[in-house]
Amino acid sequence: MKRRTLLAATGLGVVAGCAEARPPVPAPPPVDLPVRTGNAVVVAPVRRAAVLTAYDVIGNDLRGTLQALEERLAGVAATVGVGASLFDGRFALAKPRLLTEMPAFRADVLDPQWCHGDLLVQVVGDNAEGLPRIAVPGLRRRWSIDGFHPVGHGAGVRNLFGFREGDGNPDAADRDLMSRLVWVQPGDGEPDWCVGGTYQVVRLIRMAMPSWDSDPVAEQERVIGRKKDTGAPLGGERVTDAPDLGGDQIAVDAHIRLANPRTPESEAHRILRRGYSYRRTPEVAGVDDAGQIFVCYQRDVERGFATIQRRLAGEALEKYLLPFGGGYYFVLPAAGVRAILPDGA
Ligand code: HEM
Repeated sequence: MKRRTLLAATGLGVVAGCAEARPPVPAPPPVDLPVRTGNAVVVAPVRRAAVLTAYDVIGNDLRGTLQALEERLAGVAATVGVGASLFDGRFALAKPRLLTEMPAFRADVLDPQWCHGDLLVQVVGDNAEGLPRIAVPGLRRRWSIDGFHPVGHGAGVRNLFGFREGDGNPDAADRDLMSRLVWVQPGDGEPDWCVGGTYQVVRLIRMAMPSWDSDPVAEQERVIGRKKDTGAPLGGERVTDAPDLGGDQIAVDAHIRLANPRTPESEAHRILRRGYSYRRTPEVAGVDDAGQIFVCYQRDVERGFATIQRRLAGEALEKYLLPFGGGYYFVLPAAGVRAILPDGA
């Protein structure tokens, strides 16, 4: 069945886009990597629940608004990201060099109501009911979505397709690796305040649950390239086994093969994924609106997410997915929201 048919009854207008072909993104220049930490929430193990809310700044008291936001977030496990639109000239701020508005990729059907925003606040915790809903004068809510991790599917964090999630992630406890892949470093050509921050990509991806669930498990495994029960790569036995991409067990259009071809070049494109599932009241009666809040972090969004996303074009998983929202943001360093203000105070 065609992807458009599977995901047709969405109530979304079609604003499909095409990310143009680009030359390969080079590996980062060798630099000292003194910055080994940023906002600890980024590299901490995933929590059970999250609320992601995008806001636009209204009025012109950015300082007062950010200070109020900081006070509201005291003691809350959260990330604050800034979107490209915050740097449209309303405020005298130094923009992260690589921050752009999220483009539409090949298979996207973006709904403007679910995209972008001046700020993206992500609050995480283990008790969904206990997560605060942040409201601050000067911030107008643009979109908001609740995320969770399904329980009861067996060991490990699983997504709504029933597969273990995160096994292919770089080790977030390896501080040197996170310096290389996630945290912006001095020498990256970024404004000073960006050092220790990270580029965050959020993608709201509707998943064709009935269609997926009616496919045999063997077909699902072919699409992903891993076993559904253990998470082992096809042809392997344990989840920790390296996928054998030289053999024929893992299909050429399998998700894990295209997401990480494991070549010397693709090492530099690795990202840290920290996503959640979502389930919302159907917009159209009878249509289950469920999917993935895909979230990932990287030091360079072109080299990380955008390169991988373009590589995934035409993958076997594509027909089950409908990316409809999200954005590109820059997560502020550990110093918090004041870091971005001109005098840092
Ligand atoms: C709803 C959409 C998606 C689903 C259901 C999904 C599912 C999975 C699953 C089951 C795995 C294997 C286990 C793991 O390592 O986590 C995986 C791996 C991976 N996915 Fe996705 N994924 C989705 C979207 C994406 C997107 C949008 C990207 C990036 C553009 C991406 C990048 C990756 C990467 C880099 C890996 C690790 C590959 C490896 O190193 O073995 N995924 N995904």
